[in-house]
Amino acid sequence: MAIAIDGPAASGKSSTAKAVARALGFHHVDSGALYRAATAARSRQAGAPETWTEASVIEAARIVSLAPTETGFTPLLDGQEAELEMRGDSATDNVSRVAQMPGVRNWVNSIVRKTGQEYDVVVDGRDIGTVVFPNARLKIFLIADPAERARRRLLERLGAEPSAPQISEETARILLRDELDAKQSGRARDAIVIDTTRLARADQIEKIVKLGREAMV
Ligand code: DC
Repeated sequence: MAIAIDGPAASGKSSTAKAVARALGFHHVDSGALYRAATAARSRQAGAPETWTEASVIEAARIVSLAPTETGFTPLLDGQEAELEMRGDSATDNVSRVAQMPGVRNWVNSIVRKTGQEYDVVVDGRDIGTVVFPNARLKIFLIADPAERARRRLLERLGAEPSAPQISEETARILLRDELDAKQSGRARDAIVIDTTRLARADQIEKIVKLGREAMV
C-alpha cells in the first residue's frame, strides 16, 4: 500500500511523511532526497552545472544506494551517509535542473516504485500521486502560504524566530523554487488538499494518520 504526500517546497512534506509512516508502521521514502543524491553525486565530478548532461548525471548516480533507516530509507553516496552534501547550498541550487531531466526522473521513479512493491510506503515528493503511484490508496497535497513556509524553514534552520526581512528574503527564494519545480509538480485530482498555514504540526499529522487508517480498511 502506498500513501502519496505531495506539495511545494518547504510545505513540511518530508517531516510529515516520516511521522505518518512511523505512526502507521510504514516505510518513509523521500523522493526529493534521491534527486538531491543524484545532484550531489554529479557535483563530485568535474564540470560546471550548466554543462551537465542527463547521461553524465545518470552515470554519476551509480554511486547512490538506498539504505534502510529506523523509519524508512535514506540515500547513501558510495555507501556513506551524505546528508550535509545533499542538503547543502550547491545541491539545493542545482537540484531543480537535475530533476527536469526525464532520464533522472525515470531513475528515481523506478527506485521508489520498487520500495512500494516490497513495503507499505509513505512517499513524499512532487509527482507521487500523479505519476509515480497514480493508484496510491491515499493522496495528500500539502499547501501553506509562502511566507509561512519561509518562516518555518528559517525557524528550523536558525532555531529562533526569524525577523521580517529574513522572512521576505526566504519567501522570494521559495517562490523561485516553486517556479523552477512547477513543471515537475502536480496535484492529483483525487488528492486531499490540506492547508497547513494555520494548522499545528501535530494536528496535521494526526489528520493524515486518521485518513491513512481509514484508507487501510
Ligand atoms: O523536496 P525537496 O526540496 O528535497 O526536492 C528536491 C528537488 O527535487 C526539488 O527541486 C523538487 C524535485 N523533486 C521532483 O521534481 N519530484 C519529486 N517527486 C521530488 C522532488
